[in-house]
Order: sequence, then structure tokens, then C-alpha cells
Amino acid sequence: MPDARPTPQPHWWRGAVIYEVYLRSFADGNGDGIGDLAGLRARLPYLAELGIDAIWFSPWFPSPMADAGYDVADYRDIAPVFGTLAEAEAVIEAAHAEQIRIIIDLVPNHCSSEHPWFVEALAAQPGAAARDLFWFRPGRGPDGDLPPNDWESIFGGPAWTRTSTVDGTPGEWYLHLFDPKQPDFNWSNPKVREEFEDILRFWFDRGVDGVRIDSAALLVKDPALADFDVTTEFAPGAHPYTDRDGVHDIYRGWRAVADAYPGDRALIGEIWLPDPERFTLYLRPDEMHSAFNFPFLESAWDAAALRAVIDSTIEVHARVGAPATWVLANHDVTRPVTRYGRADTSWSLTYRQHGAPVDLALGLRRARAAALLAAALPGGVYVYQGEELGLPEVEDIPDDQLQDPFWIRSGRTNRGRDGCRVPLPWSGQAPPFGFSPDGAAERPWLPQPAAWADRTAAAQQDEPDSVLNLYRAALAIRHAEPALGDGPLRWLPSADGVLAFSRPAAEPGGPGVTCVVNLSDVDVPVPANGGVLLSSAPLDGGTLPVDAACWLRTT
Ligand code: NOJ
Ligand code: CA
Repeated sequence: MPDARPTPQPHWWRGAVIYEVYLRSFADGNGDGIGDLAGLRARLPYLAELGIDAIWFSPWFPSPMADAGYDVADYRDIAPVFGTLAEAEAVIEAAHAEQIRIIIDLVPNHCSSEHPWFVEALAAQPGAAARDLFWFRPGRGPDGDLPPNDWESIFGGPAWTRTSTVDGTPGEWYLHLFDPKQPDFNWSNPKVREEFEDILRFWFDRGVDGVRIDSAALLVKDPALADFDVTTEFAPGAHPYTDRDGVHDIYRGWRAVADAYPGDRALIGEIWLPDPERFTLYLRPDEMHSAFNFPFLESAWDAAALRAVIDSTIEVHARVGAPATWVLANHDVTRPVTRYGRADTSWSLTYRQHGAPVDLALGLRRARAAALLAAALPGGVYVYQGEELGLPEVEDIPDDQLQDPFWIRSGRTNRGRDGCRVPLPWSGQAPPFGFSPDGAAERPWLPQPAAWADRTAAAQQDEPDSVLNLYRAALAIRHAEPALGDGPLRWLPSADGVLAFSRPAAEPGGPGVTCVVNLSDVDVPVPANGGVLLSSAPLDGGTLPVDAACWLRTT
């Protein structure tokens, strides 16, 4: 079992650059059209050169892939399509040798309908202990043919599916907040708690440095399972399944497990909550270490809106002593190049604006500036694979090739998230762009646009102004500058529509960094500085163009 640890760096997660690998779309080692660990292993030098501190792997466990692996059938192994447990251990070791930490994606709200516990529960009688690990209930109506309540699945349609008894007659219903193939665990059952603490130990024993916790605010349900009106505003903690107070006790247990290991193992929550106060409760010192900052990602490309979200983020995190995180993209979200090229640059899970007119050149300019903004803000920063290549959302995937359960469950009205999950273009002039080896038997699992020939990593490698080289330069500077990453931020006076702040040096008298982002509609003078460290666009004659950002040595 690998035990080589990266060089100890206390609280590494406070200022880390974390790169999300969406494994099935990263690199395909064996030519079946699906990314895998062998492909990833061969591309580790690329990630080391990019300058990241950690990889977050999307779920890599055995799974029927009804939701691209967020339907886990066995939490202690690797999906054969991705490789083997031994290969995962070797990847952890090889990454550690490059000083890259490994974060896995744990899915505790639900499992796969093929998980042995659920298979056993389905075969068991109503009221059996095996059923109590999930939410089984009789239906309503004279024949029990109406769902136990009116909850809707997040992917669309009812959140309940009816089971069949052994003789084929209809039986109880079970709860699934997502797809019917993702039954929700009953977290009030102590066996579920014990199991997940044991799964954490399994992966920490294999050298994993952190865990991204999927759908972290949804685990605890009100056992009354009552109907509710979606427009109802619940008192804090009183929603039937989101952010109930009991959820914190679960993460206190997880924190105790993480703290028992050497080397700062981190817990990182996927928490979509509109209320920043409730959000930070998860980041109290005995719970998670950090969580994704979705309000920042959702913000429009607008100076006042961004400044408000930056201030609120810093303020609420300070209350609990947790570091902020800055996220522009992930595998659920429309890619920033596309988002920022639209008339309405705001975004939400329920407002994807698929197909709205987009100016990709404008979007790319803004995405480059946003990257410098995010990487200059205090705390950790995330990069989603392909963001460093400036990939746009792919909005023309043919209907019959869409795979996201959103598409079918929404009655083919929501095209879902496949557009940000298209396999990466590495090299060459035509698909598969080096994603799969030459002569691969299968095409990539989602079609790549032919226009990506000039977006491949190889094409960008020698182009000084490429997005890839901008990200490399930004991450190298971030590593070299003690003022960046964790630490304070000071706003500087600036014109309307311009964000300007300094990151003071950690040591008195040491070098500080100033970041200026021009979101106004006129070019602005670059403020007095001790040298330009980096800019997202050329600084013509000492002016910062519209939709550009620069990093300056603070005078
Ligand atoms: C959040 C994940 O990021 C998303 O991809 C997944 O579909 C849901 N959780 C359900 O696990
Ligand atoms: Ca493969």
C-alpha cells in the first residue's frame, strides 16, 4: 500500500490550486473512448507543469454510470472502465512524488440502485432492517399507486419510484432526490454513519489527502416526509431535506476521522445554499475545512456584483476562520467562455440559457480576466479541466448522443451538463485530438467539435499568449509570491466598473501584489506600480483594456 506522503505543508488546503479531473473526459489510455487512470497517469507531467497543488477526481468507483459515476455501486474499489484499485494507488503515489495531492469525490447522499445494500433492500420485505438504510414508504391512494409525497427529483419528475414485490405486484416506493438509479440513504440509521466513516478510513489509508463531499447539505431528511410547496420559505434548518441542522453532526464525525490521520486530510463540501450564514456553519473548526463558493461562480460579469460577493465571501468565512474558495467552473456548470459571452452573464443551475446568443471572443477575453481575478483572491482556487485551454461549452451535441439524466428526466427540455464534459483536445488536427491513442477502436464518448484543432494543449504550448500559457504563468507567480493564496485583501480606490485590490506581503516590507480588473466600458490607466507581473491582454501604452485584468507589483 503506498505511504509516500507529499512534503508536509500544514493547512495546505487554505491556499491550494485544486484542479478538477473529470476522469471520463480527461485522457483515454486504452482507446475505448472513455478517459481512464492510465490516460491520466501519462498526463501527470502536464498537470505538474501547469502548477497545480491537488487533483480532485470526479467519482472513480464501480458504477452503472447512470449519472456519470455519481451513482456508486462500491465505495471501496475503482470502476473497471477507469482501471483498478492498484492503478489508483499508483496514481496517488506518482502524484505525491510530484507534490500533487489527491482529493476524491465521495457521494454520501445516495448510492447506485446496484449497490448491494439497495439490492438487498429491494429483495427484503417492507419493514425489514435492510429497507431502513434507505427511504422506503407505502404509496398513497387506495392502491398505493401515488407517491408517498409530492417531492420532485432535482433531475425532473417525482422523487419517488415504486418497487415490485417478488411476485411482480407493485410494492413500496423509495426516495431518490436525483435519478431513480440513485436511491437516497437514510442517514438517521447508525449503520450508514459507520459505513461512511469506514469508507473515509479506507481512502485515507491509501494516501488520499482530501474528500470532496457531494450534495453535502442534502443528507438529513425530515422523517415526516410531508408535502411542501416549492415556493414556501422555510425557517433556517426547517426545509424537509436541504440543510437540516442534524447534518452537522455527521461532518463532526468525519472531521474526527480526518484529524486522526497525519498530513492535514481535508474535507471540502459541495454546498449550494443561498444563505451565507448557513453556509459557513459547515466550516466551523470541527466540521469541514472548506467548501465551494458558488455565489462567486453565479455572479454576473459586473464590478459591483462581483465586489459584493467577494466582500460577503471574505466576511462570512472570517467569522469561522475558514479560507474562502474561488470557483469559475466545474462539471455541472456552463463553461465561463460561453457564459461570459452572453448578454446576461449571470448563471444558476436552473438558468443555464442553453443556446442563447454568445460572442465567444468576448467570452474568452472575460474568462482570461476572470482567471486572474480568481487566482488573486485570498484562499484556495479551483480549475476545471479544459478551463486552462479556454474551451467553450459545446452546445450542439446531437440529441441522440446526450447522456446526462437531466435530458430524459426533464422530458427533453433541459439539455443538461454534457456540453462542459466533452473530452479534452490534447493534440492533432481532428477528433479525437489525442484524447484516445492513435488507431483507437472507439470514438470519444461525447463528440468533440472540429473547431477545437486550435484549442488543443499542443497547439497552445508554443503560442505565448495562449490561455494555457496564461494559466501556467498565473499559477507559477501564485506559487512564487507569498502574498497570494491565503491572506488579507485590501480594496484600492478605482474608477467605476473597475476592481482593484492589493494582496499585502505576509512579511512586513515584503513584496505585495495588486490586481486590477477592468469591467467598465472604457480603457483605464494602469495604476502606479513597481512592475507588471502578468496581464490577461496587452497593456497598450499603460492602459488596461476593457474586460482585461493585470497583476502588478505593489509599490
Ligand atoms: C453534484 C454533482 O456535482 C453532480 O454532477 C451530480 O449529478 C449530483 N451531485 C448528484 O450526485
Ligand atoms: Ca479508456
